[in-house]
Parts: sequence; C-alpha cells; structure tokens
Amino acid sequence: MAVFEANLAALADKVAAKLSDKRFQHCLRVKDYAVYLAEQNEVDPEQAAVAALVHDYAKERPDADFLAMIDQQGLDPDLKNWGNPIWHGVVGAYFVKEELGIADPDILRAVTEHTTGAGHEMAPLSKIIFMADYLEAGRTFPGVAEARTITDESLNQGVFYQLSHTLSFLASQEKAIYPKTFDAYNDWALNQSTWS
Ligand SMILES: [Fe+2]
Ligand SMILES: [Fe+2]
Repeated sequence: MAVFEANLAALADKVAAKLSDKRFQHCLRVKDYAVYLAEQNEVDPEQAAVAALVHDYAKERPDADFLAMIDQQGLDPDLKNWGNPIWHGVVGAYFVKEELGIADPDILRAVTEHTTGAGHEMAPLSKIIFMADYLEAGRTFPGVAEARTITDESLNQGVFYQLSHTLSFLASQEKAIYPKTFDAYNDWALNQSTWS
C-alpha cells in the first residue's frame, strides 16, 4: 500500500502540472468519490483512484493537439465535428497512455467513456468513474443529492439517471447529443429488465 501511495502521489504531480488548480482539485474529489463507490461495488479501489486522478488529464490541451491525435491514431474522422467535451475522454485516453505510461485497459477505457457513457454492459470501473465525476463532493446541481442516494442503492440506476438527465438537459438547451451517448441511453432503456 505504501508503494501504491507513493506512485499515486507521483502521478498526481504529473496531472497537476497539466491542469489548473481548480480542475486538479476536481480530480482529487473524483478520486475520493471513486474510491468510495469502488469499495461499495467490489471494484479495485486502487484502480479506481488512478483512473479518477487521470480522467481529465487532457482537458486543458489545445484543440490542435486533439485533432492531431485523431489523425495520428486513425480515429473516426467524425470526431473532428465534436469538441473538447467529447475529445478530452475519447482522445484524451491516448495522451494518458503515451504521456503518463498507463497501460491498464480498464483504466484507459474508463477515461475514454467518461465523456460519452456506454451501453449497459459498460465495465464496472467505467461506471465508477462516470458516476464519481458526476457526484463528487463539489457538485451542486439540482438533484445531486437524489442522484447520490440512487447511486448508493444501485450503481446501474445511477448511470441510467445520469444518462437520462444529461440527454434531457442537452435537449432542453437545444444542444447536439453525441451519437454514442444517445446509443448508450437507448441501450440502458431497452435492456432495463436485465440490469435493474
Ligand atoms: Fe471530464
Ligand atoms: Fe471530470
């Protein structure tokens, strides 16, 4: 455990170097909430701590970095029509891998999926990071207390709550909805009897 704590502290320094203090503090709160949810849901808390710490690692990079990485990795060119809110997860995972040397596929997947969500067969660690990002102690949106209670009762219900509320919110603002998020919502809605 001491070795892990030392490694985590070194990783935190690398993340802090790339982020504003405000966003770094968010990452630390996501880490605390992710460890809490991991322990509640029998997911490895160390894996959750690392994934949470790095989930927004790429968030403050210039758009040009993401566009270059999309080309370099041969990712779907449609991604270029979106922006930082999607890129910092889907494309950001490549920066996490290359610059932080994180190779754990579960962690990279959790970073990838934290900006889009995924279908009901989403990996447990991805669910944890998706929810910890939404529920960390600094969040104050209307309904956050209800969302925390629901997630304490059922991680799956929490994910579905977030997806449905995010979609409703984006539509109410007349904003575009990333297709993968739309598909994720439909997948959870259509398969409710299997996961609820
Ligand atoms: Fe994020
Ligand atoms: Fe975040």
